[in-house]
Amino acid sequence: MKSGRHFLQIPGPTNTPERVHRAMHRSVIDHRGPDFATLGAGLLEDLKAVFKTESRVVIYPASGTGAWEAALVNTLAPGDRVLMYETGQFATLWKNMAAKLGFDPVFMQGDWRSGANAEAIGAQLREDKAHAVKAVCVVHNDTATGVTSDIAAVRRAMDEAGHPALLIVDTISSLGSIDFRMDEWGVDVTVAGSQKGLMLPPGLSFNAISDKAMAAAEANGTRRSYWDWRDMVGPNASGFFPYTPATTLLYGLREALDMLAEEGLENVFARHARHAEATRRAVAAWGLEILCRNPAEYSNALTAVLMPDEKGADALRKTILDGFDMSLGTGLNKVADKVFRIGHLGDFNDLMLMGTLCGVEMGLNRAGVAYQPGGAQAAMDYLAANDLP
Ligand SMILES: Cc1ncc(COP(=O)(O)O)c(C=O)c1O
Repeated sequence: MKSGRHFLQIPGPTNTPERVHRAMHRSVIDHRGPDFATLGAGLLEDLKAVFKTESRVVIYPASGTGAWEAALVNTLAPGDRVLMYETGQFATLWKNMAAKLGFDPVFMQGDWRSGANAEAIGAQLREDKAHAVKAVCVVHNDTATGVTSDIAAVRRAMDEAGHPALLIVDTISSLGSIDFRMDEWGVDVTVAGSQKGLMLPPGLSFNAISDKAMAAAEANGTRRSYWDWRDMVGPNASGFFPYTPATTLLYGLREALDMLAEEGLENVFARHARHAEATRRAVAAWGLEILCRNPAEYSNALTAVLMPDEKGADALRKTILDGFDMSLGTGLNKVADKVFRIGHLGDFNDLMLMGTLCGVEMGLNRAGVAYQPGGAQAAMDYLAANDLP
């Protein structure tokens, strides 16, 4: 039994605020009764602001992977070509899913250190004179690499190519942490999850659906059931669901949306940006390298740090977990053992960040990693010089 509190600094699930815990600590109600209708209708309406959309949002009692599948099976038919971009492990898993479901993913190669290359996507689409590509899928913030992609640039490239494919974007680790503008950026389907910027436990996921995507789904005769957007429309109109919703998590979602609105979304993004920059200052002072190559693509939700000689990240994480009771994100797939990931998203403040960075610095020292002391100090200096109003 360890004393004190555990530091959950993986890039999601994130720390759940007390207010959300308390909101969920209540009896389950009748999901076909009037109280539920009020809750459900309010959530479906208020979620739109978080996605920056006027379009419909649907909620699944599922992890993010379910919402990935929903986005694909509603809009595509088996054999349909889909352009996907290799930003990291999550883009890879989504591509694998598309193949398993019988779609035809074209996986544009990336280096796991850069975001989606909009120009290359545009060039590929210009080649596709027959419009065989039905959708372009991009992960806004690849949680495995700490790299964000410029979604507005992808949309511009699609428009300049005059290509009618749908733009489907995974915002599972960006929504509520990094600015995302569904309508302004012309996104057709947005995929999201509860356990990161929305500060909830895992278990809910979302699709926000443009009219164009909804029309594609209406015209898509492919078999689907649990994920079928068409089954949501009727019950959702009065705040209900076609099956039993995750009532308790929805109480938590109500509270989380209220918290985001009270702070103001733009302030939430500024808070994340400041903590991310402080983290990067710490990494630089340690003399370590950030996995993301291009500063314009740095993630404000997490930082993936390369180990000296690109090995030993798992031993370092174990030292930190055993010694200081802090969980950091593991390196996945191509960057396994090469990187550790510091999550700085969700319900987070200056002292939580400093506890996290001190824990990393103490761990680097204890694990005998070649580093320069002074990262935590560099982060503190940055925070002090860049106080938010
Ligand atoms: C960017 C991204 N996409 C998809 C997923 C998969 O979501 P889940 O694990 O909730 O099914 C994750 C999970 O961390 C993620 O970070």
